[in-house]
Amino acid sequence: MIIAIVNQKGGVAKTTTAVHFAYGLSAQAATVLVDSDPNRSAMAWAGRATSAFPFKVITELQLLRFQGKFQHIVTDTKARPSPEDLKVLLEMTDLIVLPSSTSGDDLRVTVDTAQRLKEVGSQNHRVLLTKVPSVKDEKDAREYLQEQSIPIFKGHIRAYKAYDKAFIEGIPVFQVKRDPNASRAWLDYQTVIQEVLEEYS
Ligand SMILES: Nc1ncnc2c1ncn2[C@@H]1O[C@H](COP(=O)(O)OP(=O)(O)O)[C@@H](O)[C@H]1O
Ligand SMILES: [Mg+2]
Repeated sequence: MIIAIVNQKGGVAKTTTAVHFAYGLSAQAATVLVDSDPNRSAMAWAGRATSAFPFKVITELQLLRFQGKFQHIVTDTKARPSPEDLKVLLEMTDLIVLPSSTSGDDLRVTVDTAQRLKEVGSQNHRVLLTKVPSVKDEKDAREYLQEQSIPIFKGHIRAYKAYDKAFIEGIPVFQVKRDPNASRAWLDYQTVIQEVLEEYS
């Protein structure tokens, strides 16, 4: 399964989603995380880790060397992909995940990204609501996306401070210490990963 994490916007949890998807999928089968964002924030995350990730984090070029070795490839991508970038991603992937916070601005940009993907022929993209502050925000965001016929995951990712700690320390959210929300946060990603596995594998 090849999954790309995509959005026009930065700060919508693309890298966070890529890292946690790779963690979840690597428990099931050999997984690699390709960091195709020139900012290399996924590689930097892994670089801060004191214990090794259960998957490799590599660049697109490095993937050439490891061809065929992995069952799942998760790709983190840069913000503001061009129409050509989107076309390549579409051709290369089984699923495009569009993380979006529930803020009006992020949702508008996400709808725009989804529409661009549809224009280039995508049928396999889906919005993942991230950094969700409350049940009401989730419901409103879901309604807004559904009104515009944008495909959306059933599960969503709640907003927790544990993610910032995970990012800083170079660990997945479930390894964040002394934070009761760390396991809740991981449960959110596990639920969404399960949704992906049930449909795509
Ligand atoms: N579910 C969440 N709850 C709270 N903060 C989050 C969540 N997911 C990500 N973040 C934080 O949001 C910021 C942007 O996340 P990041 O994954 O780097 O986004 P992107 O790759 O889209 O730019 C980071 O500080 C990250 O810790
Ligand atoms: Mg990023």
